Formats: sequence, structure tokens, C-alpha cells
Amino acid sequence: VATAVLIVGAGNMGAALTRGLHAAGGYDVTVHDVHAERMQELCAATGAQACPDWGKGARREAAIILCVKPQDLGLVAKDLAGKVRPDALVVTILAGTPMDDVQTALKHHGAVVRAMPNIAATLQNAATGMCANDACKPEHKTLAEGIFAAIGLAEWTKESLLDAVTGLSGSGPAYVYMVIEALTEGGVKMGMPRQLASRLATQTVLGAAMLVKETGLHPAILRDQVTTPGGTTISAIHELEERGLRAMLISAVETATVKSASLRKKP
Ligand SMILES: NC(=O)c1ccc[n+]([C@@H]2O[C@H](COP(=O)([O-])OP(=O)(O)OC[C@H]3O[C@@H](n4cnc5c(N)ncnc54)[C@H](OP(=O)(O)O)[C@@H]3O)[C@@H](O)[C@H]2O)c1
Repeated sequence: VATAVLIVGAGNMGAALTRGLHAAGGYDVTVHDVHAERMQELCAATGAQACPDWGKGARREAAIILCVKPQDLGLVAKDLAGKVRPDALVVTILAGTPMDDVQTALKHHGAVVRAMPNIAATLQNAATGMCANDACKPEHKTLAEGIFAAIGLAEWTKESLLDAVTGLSGSGPAYVYMVIEALTEGGVKMGMPRQLASRLATQTVLGAAMLVKETGLHPAILRDQVTTPGGTTISAIHELEERGLRAMLISAVETATVKSASLRKKP
């Protein structure tokens, strides 16, 4: 039997999840968005059902996934509060919004999973960190794992680490874009046509990441393997160490984590 899932908000993330669940199969997906056209378009592409007038009666879904902007939680709650099945799982991807706030807004005292995916969800290659509240039973966690596996890699953690997830993998694509851009500029500086440099830089980042993932080897071991004594790579590594590449990235994750936490503390 297909698992009934309601996705609220058909923007970047809602659409990615709808497409991912469609590709994974085994889900009966309903989508709600305030934009009728956006909702219809997504449903036509994925076979999901549009749910324009969702305010009537209790919801029947096993999971409701909130994919609206954090400031729209109140609006969603106006329609949804008190209507979620007590045994249903509420999944929230609202940045910076604790599970408690979602429970209070929806008057839902049952299972909640909070997740922080990243923009690569649009290509089903997200890195997602997620946490579950105490009301989550093993079947709720299995359901959440299936949902986020449909858009990439999903890892459990605790809620107190979600700011760090935001600082690492949430904002991380932007750091890597800067690396790709800079490698490209390096190629251009050395006389390469820009398009060629860009393609080589992009594939280098992708291929290097795939090697780490597929071999399971520590990146330092892989780095040693391509570092010939007295060769070109060690000269570049020396330069990167002198200029603090690693310290810079560690600080970047720290700074973004602290910023993420500070946004929530504001009234
Ligand atoms: N994008 C990312 O990389 C990313 C990563 C991690 C987490 N997130 C989180 O994911 C959530 C969604 O992000 P997104 O980039 O997908 O946003 P988005 O593209 O703006 O999508 C949200 C959609 O929900 C609609 N909406 C607003 N109020 C609604 C309501 N009451 N009922 C139903 N639909 C409503 C929005 O319409 P309008 O356009 O009219 O507002 C829009 O179509 C955010 O909370 C964000 O913090 C995003």
C-alpha cells in the first residue's frame, strides 16, 4: 500500500521532495501551495494530487511535510492546526524553527522530525541532517529516512546540532561554488579558455568527492596518493597550507553555525 504524504509548499524544496518521492515510488503524494499554477504544474509532472482547499476536515496522511518559508508557519497553522492525525508524522524543513514551535503551532503532540536538507535536493543529491522528537516511534523514523533518502543522503543527529548542519551542509554548497569558481580562475590565469577551465574544475570537485564517498578512505590518504615527492601537487599543498585553506573552512563552518543560532535568539 502506498504511503500517503502531504507536502505543504511547492517551492524549491517541496518540488524536490515531490519529484524524489515520485521517483522512489510507493508514496501517494498530495501537494498544497498557495499558488495554484505552481501546484498544478508540479502535480502534472509527477502524478501527485493537488490539494487546493485543504482546510476542510482532518488530514488522512501518514506524513505531512512542511516546506514553506519559516515566516509562513503561522499561515499554515491557521488551516492545519488540530487537524493532523495524532499518529501522523510531521516533518519540518523550516530553517531555524525548533520542533517545539511546530508542535505548538499545529497543536500536534505526536511525532515530529526536523530536517535540514540543502539545495542539491533539486538533483536528488542533498546532504540532510535530521532529528526526531521523543514521540517518534521506530516506524516514524523509518518513514522520515525514506522521505529524505529520496532526495539524497540523510543522517540522524540531535536537534542541538542542526545549527552546525546548517553551517556545514546547508550553506556548504556556496563554499564549494567559490572553490569551483576559484579553480576556474586559476586555469584562466594560466591561459585556459574559461569554458574548458570551468568544466575541468567542476568535474575535479565532483570526482574527488565521489572518490572519498565510494572508497571510504580518509581524504588525507587519498591526498597522499596523488602527492608525488618533489612534484607539482606538494608545491600547491604547501601554498594552500601557508595561506590557511583548512583553517579558513573550519572557521567558515563555525561562523555560519553561530549565525544560525543567533538568528533564532532574536524576538
Ligand atoms: N532552499 C534551500 O536550499 C533550503 C535548504 C534547507 C531548508 N530550506 C527550508 O525549506 C523551506 C522552503 O524553502 P524553499 O526554498 O523551497 O522556499 P520557496 O521556494 O519559497 O517555497 C515555498 C512555497 O510555499 C508557498 N507558500 C507560502 N505560504 C504558504 C501556505 N500558507 N500554504 C501553502 N504554501 C505556501 C510559497 O508561496 P510564496 O512564493 O507566495 O511564498 C512557495 O511556493 C524554508 O523553510 C527553508 O528554510 C531550504
